[in-house]
Amino acid sequence: MSRYLPGPEASMWDPEQYALFASHRGRPFVDLLARVGAERPRLVVDLGCGDGPLTLSLTRRWPGARVVGLDSSPQMLDAARVLDTDRRVEWVQARAEEWDPTTLGAPVDVLVTNAALQWVPGHLDLLPRWVDALADDGWFAMQVPSNFDAPSHALMREVAARHPRAEDLLPVLHRAAAVAAPTDYLGVLASLGLDADVWQTTYEHVLDPEGVQRSPVLEWVRGTGLRPVLDVLTDDAERAAFLDDYTAALDAAYPRQPWGVVLGFRRTFAVGHRPPGPREPGRRRRLGRA
Ligand SMILES: C[S@@+](CC[C@H](N)C(=O)[O-])C[C@H]1O[C@@H](n2cnc3c(N)ncnc32)[C@H](O)[C@@H]1O
Repeated sequence: MSRYLPGPEASMWDPEQYALFASHRGRPFVDLLARVGAERPRLVVDLGCGDGPLTLSLTRRWPGARVVGLDSSPQMLDAARVLDTDRRVEWVQARAEEWDPTTLGAPVDVLVTNAALQWVPGHLDLLPRWVDALADDGWFAMQVPSNFDAPSHALMREVAARHPRAEDLLPVLHRAAAVAAPTDYLGVLASLGLDADVWQTTYEHVLDPEGVQRSPVLEWVRGTGLRPVLDVLTDDAERAAFLDDYTAALDAAYPRQPWGVVLGFRRTFAVGHRPPGPREPGRRRRLGRA
C-alpha cells in the first residue's frame, strides 16, 4: 500500500445504482462468511455495511447476536433502515478509520467488512485496532476488490488521461494502490496472533443476460469505482464526453455474448480467528482452522 489519497467517502453513494447487481455483489460476502466458524456470537459488527441486505443476513445466521452496521454514507444507511423493518440492527454513521470499537462496550465476536476497505485510506495500519477489539475465539473477516488492473479500471484511467479534465481526474483514480497484497493481509493477521486464512478468487460475472442495458459494465462501475470521476465531472458536457469515450472502450473490452456480458472480477479475502486462551502476538499457529 504505497500511497494514500484523500478518501472519496464524503461523496454521494447511490443505493439504487449499487443494488442493480445485488446478487453478484452478494456472492463474495457469502463466500467470506462461509469461512467464519462462529457459532453463537454475542456481538457482530459489519464495517462499511452499505445498504443493508447483507448485514441483515447476519441477523438471520445469528439470531441471538447484537448486530451493528457501520457506514459513512447517510444515503446507504437510510436505505438500510428502510429494509430493517424489525429494527434488528444498530445502524451507526461513522468513518471506519475514526471509529473506536471500545464505544461498543463489549468485545466483538465477529467483525466483518466486505467490499469497503478499498475506500478506507491506511486500512492495513488499522487492522491491529480492529483485531484488538476481538473477543477470545473472535473472528475478523474482510474482502476487498483486487481488480484495479482489470480493463474496467485501466480504461477508466486511460480515458481520464485524454479528457480535458485529466489533471483533476487522474489523482482521484490513483487509489489503485489502496489495496494491499494478499500476503500483506496474511502477515498482519498472523503477526497479531490470529489463525489466518487468505485467498483470492476471480468471479466471472455474467451481466445483463436479458440484453436490456446499453453497457452493463458501465452500470456496474457507476455504482462503485466510477463515483469519484462522476463527482469531479459535474458539468453535463464534460461528463458526456467521458462517458461516450469510456463506453466505447468498454464495448471493445467486454463484448456482448449470446449469454450476456462477462465481467471478470478478482477479489482478496482474509479471515482471522483468535484462538481461545492468552494473547501471544507473533506466535506461530496452525493455519486453516476456519
Ligand atoms: C461497495 S460498498 C459495500 C457495501 C456492503 N459492505 C456490501 O458488501 O454490499 C462500500 C461501502 O463502504 C462505505 N464506506 C466508504 N468509505 C467508508 C469509510 N471511510 N468508513 C465507513 N464506510 C465507508 C460506503 O459508504 C459504502 O456503503
